[in-house]
Amino acid sequence: MKKIVIAIDGHSSSGKSTMAKDLAREIGYTYIDTGAMYRAVTLYCLRNGLFVGDDKVKEDELEAAMEKMDISFRFNPETGRSDTYLDGTDVEKEIRTMAVADKVSLIAALGFVRRALVTKQREMGKEKGIVMDGRDIGTVVFPDAELKIFVTASPEVRAKRRQEELIAKGTPVSYEEVLANVKKRDYIDSTRAESPLRRADDALVLDNSTMSLAEQKEWLLERYREVAGA
Ligand code: DC
Repeated sequence: MKKIVIAIDGHSSSGKSTMAKDLAREIGYTYIDTGAMYRAVTLYCLRNGLFVGDDKVKEDELEAAMEKMDISFRFNPETGRSDTYLDGTDVEKEIRTMAVADKVSLIAALGFVRRALVTKQREMGKEKGIVMDGRDIGTVVFPDAELKIFVTASPEVRAKRRQEELIAKGTPVSYEEVLANVKKRDYIDSTRAESPLRRADDALVLDNSTMSLAEQKEWLLERYREVAGA
């Protein structure tokens, strides 16, 4: 059976990571969470004092640091999932905090950061057999991906999901705060000059506002079987 590249793009908290991870496990592909890579760069900036005020980044320092920054994924046998590593340490928990979520769009809008991460992502996917999730996978990273999916849901549904996720992780946060963050990220992600979030012309759209996880999983598996001839 031929190995393919599966590009899953969409809005934040649309549930695309869950779908992408499930699919990868089911079909024995490698899952790559590119959002985690932008989050890791953001954490690096927070740790090294590279943010100035609310919305500025010390770009020269960050650009120099990008060359040496080591971002990778390693399998965690305890959770059965891959954790994100920044310069040799597991940062999986820290990159999911609100502090990082608040700043990550600023980092993801920087052209030199995107170019460095896209190069890494192409390297990770060159053997195919991957499910990569992000914002620009079908448009920029792998424009020739055999299967492209664009996942979305209403901002309200996504905010509720995100709030539940954060509460489950022990971070109590109000619905209003999460909704504001979801909308702000949508706006920044889709209006930025560098690789704005948009659906590739040949991507299939999945609006999962009213779909169960099982329904989404089945839908995605069917699309994969159609394309890969499985
Ligand atoms: O999927 P996520 O919420 O973990 O993504 C974090 C941020 O990174 C989000 O603001 C969008 C951005 N991102 C991006 O610009 N390009 C990607 N390929 C993945 C994420």
